[in-house]
Parts: sequence; structure tokens; C-alpha cells
Amino acid sequence: MDEGFCATAVRAAHVRGVGDAKLIRMPASNLDDINRAAAPFDRFTSVQRLGPDRRGHASAEHARHQLYVGRDRQTRLNLLVKLASRPGKVYQDDLANEIATLSTINRELADSRYFPVIHDRGHLKDGRIYLVSTFFDELPLAASIATEWMPDRLVAHLRAALEIVKALVELHGLQIFHVDLNPMNILYRVEKSRPIVRIVDFESSFDVARHSSGVFYSPPTTTGYSAPEISQQSPDPRADVFSVGAVLYTMLAGYRWAESGEPRKRVESDRNLDPELRDILLRAVAPSPEERYAAVGDFGTALAAHLERIWPGRTW
Ligand SMILES: Nc1ncnc2c1ncn2[C@@H]1O[C@H](COP(=O)(O)OP(=O)(O)O)[C@@H](O)[C@H]1O
Ligand SMILES: [Mg+2]
Repeated sequence: MDEGFCATAVRAAHVRGVGDAKLIRMPASNLDDINRAAAPFDRFTSVQRLGPDRRGHASAEHARHQLYVGRDRQTRLNLLVKLASRPGKVYQDDLANEIATLSTINRELADSRYFPVIHDRGHLKDGRIYLVSTFFDELPLAASIATEWMPDRLVAHLRAALEIVKALVELHGLQIFHVDLNPMNILYRVEKSRPIVRIVDFESSFDVARHSSGVFYSPPTTTGYSAPEISQQSPDPRADVFSVGAVLYTMLAGYRWAESGEPRKRVESDRNLDPELRDILLRAVAPSPEERYAAVGDFGTALAAHLERIWPGRTW
């Protein structure tokens, strides 16, 4: 279970208007535990904790990570620092897995706009591992999901899903699967009516090249979004098909359904869904991977055909 996933907290932050501020200035005491004179913090002119609208943690103290945003002295870019909260082995291994996967992505997909770029990595004096990477302006998808159905957003949500699919086609081309796609790990914004999507949090990622040759793999997952089979078998593209199906359904239907944790039953009984779209979603979130689309691109093709049917003649 991804302990950090708390969409309600994100949404609450927005309702209160907190989310309007890009970064939320925290009291100085929140930064007391970092040493600004040492790496990675010494490269920044200013450092702040990531605001609650982006973290999604009800309480920073219980989070698996400490997340900071710093302004890089040389490039003036905002960068994200992700630091394990404790020196425990599991936390360290998960963040090391994220670093290894992002290194491969950065090398193989150097021009991609979908994924963070690593700027630095290392260990604090106390042994905790850290990662410094791109800080994206986009907010988690969770922030744009309502509680209930929003029929007027249907086309926007389908287009967002198609953009997520494009990102995953790139990722799967490297034989890497994300495995923990949920509305907090996908960032989203609409610019000039086009969706902009970023994929973050690669701690649970499965990289065939590394993990098939014996690197230990026991990832954090998110109930209702991570594919059910991953506790028994190595993930393949169909694990992300399940997650992106569950994410799209949450976008369409709102958060209420997510409380049940089992997308298929909710999709089956949802009378708001167009039957064609319901069949597409049911195939994506089928509990058995054999019943799902074999590749994320096949899910995208079906969605694009549906979009063309309900809104013909547009070039997305
Ligand atoms: N590169 C990034 N740019 C902007 N926000 C990010 C970035 N990476 C993570 N975040 C935000 O921080 C939250 C927590 O980071 P994440 O890597 O998902 O850690 P965790 O494993 O604690 O869930 C994300 O849900 C997202 O809102
Ligand atoms: Mg996360």
C-alpha cells in the first residue's frame, strides 16, 4: 500500500484554496532537520517543503519520504529533493530502484517530456539516500478529480488518458513497467486545451533487464490501482493497463467509487457509463491479466476509437 496516497487530503487542500499557491511556505521549524550547508541542499538558494496539495500526505511526519523544492543556484530551475524519511533498508531499496529506473529512462528517452530527469543522487551523512530531479509545475491528477460524475469533462478525461497511454508506450518500449500508477503519481495540466502529463514515483517500477536477473522486487502498491496479480507474479505491460484503466475510471466517476477498492464491480454496475466505454474499461481492469488488453497501446487504440465515435472528425 502506498502510504502516501491520500487524495482526500489533496482535494481538501484545494477546497481550502491552499492549492492556489504553487509552493506553500512552511514554518522554519519544518526545515530544522536539514543541513543547508551540505549536499544536496547546498546547491539551492532557497528550499521549501513540498506543499500538502502536492504531497497528498495527511501528515508529513508519517510519510515515507521528505520532499523539498529548491531553487538551483546555477540554473535557477526548481528541483525536487526526495529523501527517505528513515534509514530503513526497504525505504532505501525503493528509492534506489527509482534512481536506477530513472537513470535508464533518462539515458534511453533523453528527449521525453513525460519523466523527471535526475540532477543528483547520493547519501546524507546519516546514510539516507536522496534523489534530486526535475520539479514539474503540474499538480497531481488527484487535484482535478471530483467526488461525483462530471459528464461535461468526459472528453477532457479521455484525452488525458490517451496522453497517459502515450507516456506508457514510451516506458514499456524500454521493458519498464510503472506498477504504481495512481492519481498522485500522475501529474496533469491542460495548456491551450491540450493535456500535459508527467509520470512520477518510480519506486515500484519493474525493469525487466534488472529485475529478471535477480534484483529483489517487492514494491509498494496502491489498493484499487495496482494490478492484483503483482503479489504473485512479475509485472508485465498488463499491470499498467489495469492501473491506467482504474485511473481513467476515477477521473470519470469521481472519488466515491475508490472507497470500495475494486474497480471492476463499480464499472460493471455504473449506469452513467456509455456501454462501449464500459466494455473498454472492463477489459482494462479485468482481475485476470489474460483478460486485459495485452499492451497499453491496444487500450489507447480502443479509447481513441471511442473518442472518435462520440466526437468525430477531430484530430487530437
Ligand atoms: N518531479 C515532480 N514534480 C512535481 N511534483 C512531484 C514530483 N515528484 C513527485 N511529486 C509530488 O510529490 C508527491 C510524492 O512524491 P512521490 O515520488 O510520489 O513519493 P511517494 O513515494 O511518497 O508517493 C507526488 O504525489 C507528487 O504530487
Ligand atoms: Mg507517490
